[in-house]
Amino acid sequence: MKKLLITGADGMLATDLTRYFQTHSQYDIIKASRKDLDITSRDMVEEMFNMHKPDYIIHTAAITNVDFCEDNIDEAMRVNGYGTENIGVCAEQINAKVIYISSCGLFGDELKPYDEKEPVVLKTEYAKSKYLGEAKIAQSCSRHFIVRPGWLFGGGIQHKKNFVYNRYKEAIKGDEMVAAGDKYGCPTYTYHLAGALMSLLDTEKYGVYHISNDGSASRYDYVKKIITCFGLKTKVKKVDSSSFPRKAPVPDCEIISNYNLKKNGFSLLPSWELAIEDYVNILKNEIE
Ligand SMILES: NC(=O)c1ccc[n+]([C@@H]2O[C@H](COP(=O)([O-])OP(=O)(O)OC[C@H]3O[C@@H](n4cnc5c(N)ncnc54)[C@H](OP(=O)(O)O)[C@@H]3O)[C@@H](O)[C@H]2O)c1
Repeated sequence: MKKLLITGADGMLATDLTRYFQTHSQYDIIKASRKDLDITSRDMVEEMFNMHKPDYIIHTAAITNVDFCEDNIDEAMRVNGYGTENIGVCAEQINAKVIYISSCGLFGDELKPYDEKEPVVLKTEYAKSKYLGEAKIAQSCSRHFIVRPGWLFGGGIQHKKNFVYNRYKEAIKGDEMVAAGDKYGCPTYTYHLAGALMSLLDTEKYGVYHISNDGSASRYDYVKKIITCFGLKTKVKKVDSSSFPRKAPVPDCEIISNYNLKKNGFSLLPSWELAIEDYVNILKNEIE
């Protein structure tokens, strides 16, 4: 039986990866959460990889708070950059395949879909740290995929950054809420992303992949869809992103084109609207 090790196993994406692979694969899943595996310790990583000898590793662990990274640059590089190097070096020693989860936030403000050949812009320290992770995995591990997903949603209500659940909680508190109409991306369901990752792992088609649900949306479109799916009457007002002052200069456009998935014959993901409908149905059961 093939073994799959998932880093950052308590995180939002990792939770849905585990749920997906447990139902759709025969793999033996090793959930490596932060308390069992701090990726900044080369010794811990080496020991765990040698103990389990996974065939596949999906590396999700990262500092994901973009504003925190802006203020804590060394820590961001240490975890997202050099922690990823530890994963790559130790994976190479056991000849494992690695999927490194990078980011869609590597580009600029120009409103257009970015494919894998577009030069990066790296406006934030978070983006620089994730891109350092890409360079480190590419240098250290010969059997690697670098996946840049869209704006992720999914996981459980215990996940602090659960965007869909947080908007629900906000909506039930009042008659009106606001959302930015000038930030764009591709809302992407972690469970659908898991399916695409499973297809990659079965192949030797290594490289960089942009992966998102189909279509793109502003934050306003995204929030409006969530509220509609919950059947709530709360009015969503479109505002400028300056209403949400942030430390990190996040790009206006995080829309990605799934060019390499298409080129290499992989299935594309369904629309983001359908993905939200699927996920809200699951969340409704969890909330009730
Ligand atoms: N969320 C998005 O919209 C999005 C979009 C594109 C790409 N991504 C990428 O997708 C991946 C998963 O993101 P997510 O949204 O699932 O984030 P998440 O819920 O914050 O999960 C990240 C996990 O990594 C763990 N972690 C942090 N530092 C660690 C360390 N030194 N060693 C081991 N584990 C550590 C965290 O533990 P603690 O909670 O204890 O810190 C957390 O459990 C990340 O690589 C992120 O950069 C996210």
